[in-house]
Amino acid sequence: MLKEKLILGNWKMNGREETVHSFLAQIISLSCPIQTQVGIAFPSVYLSIAKQITQNSEITIGAQNLSQFSQDGAYTGEVSALMLKDLHLNFTLIGHSERRQYFNESNQQITDKLNNAYQNNLLPILCVGENLEARESNVENRIISEQLSVLDNLIQNDRPIIIAYEPIWAIGTGKVASVEQIEKMHQYVYEQLLSKGANPANIRILYGGSVNAENASTIFSLPKVSGALIGGASLKVEDFTKIIKATEN
Ligand code: PGA
Repeated sequence: MLKEKLILGNWKMNGREETVHSFLAQIISLSCPIQTQVGIAFPSVYLSIAKQITQNSEITIGAQNLSQFSQDGAYTGEVSALMLKDLHLNFTLIGHSERRQYFNESNQQITDKLNNAYQNNLLPILCVGENLEARESNVENRIISEQLSVLDNLIQNDRPIIIAYEPIWAIGTGKVASVEQIEKMHQYVYEQLLSKGANPANIRILYGGSVNAENASTIFSLPKVSGALIGGASLKVEDFTKIIKATEN
C-alpha cells in the first residue's frame, strides 16, 4: 500500500560502507510520521548491505538505476531488475536527469526500464524535468509531456505511478523552483497522468531540486506535492531528518 507522502534520498555517487551504516542507524531510530514512507537510493555496491541493515525497519531501499535489458546475459556493468528483486529492494529511480545527460538515456530505454521494474515488483520513480533553456523559452510543459509519454502503454489501474518532477536548473544549484512554478507543474503532471488513464489514488508526484531543511515544509504544503526526491541534503542525516519531520504538518 502506498503511503501519502514519500521522502526519498538519492545519494548519487557518494558514500562509503561506513557512512551507509552510520546514516541508516540514525534514520532507523527515528519515529517517522505515520503517513510518510522514507526511502534511500544508494549506489548499487551498497544496496545489499543497506537492505540487511534495514530489514526489520520501515525504511525502504532503492536503486538509482537498472538495466534496460530484462534477462541475464553479456551486458558488462549492468544490474538487472531481476538482481534488484533478488535483494528485495523496494524501488528504483528511472530516467534521472543526470542519466539522461551523461549516459544519453533515451525514452525507449526509459520505457524498457519502467517495464522491467513493474514486471519485477520494484516501484519505479520516473524522474522528469526541463532544463533552463526550456524554462526560459516557456516550453517546459511540452518537454515534460514528451518525457511522460514513456508511460503511455504502462499505465494500469492497480499500478502506482510515481513521478519526481525535478527541474534540471534546480538540481544541486541551491535554486529552488518558486511555489507557483511547482504548483503549476505538479497540476500539469497530474492532469497528464489522468488523461493517460492513471488511477488518482495511485498517483504520487514528488518535487526534487535543492530541497533542504528550510524550504521543505513550504514545498510539502503545496497541493499535488506528495513529498520529495532529495540529493545533497540526503547525505546529511540532520538535514534529511528535518525534511522527514516537515511532512508532519
Ligand atoms: P539536489 O538533487 O537535492 O541535490 O538538488 C536532487 C536530485 O537530483 O534528485
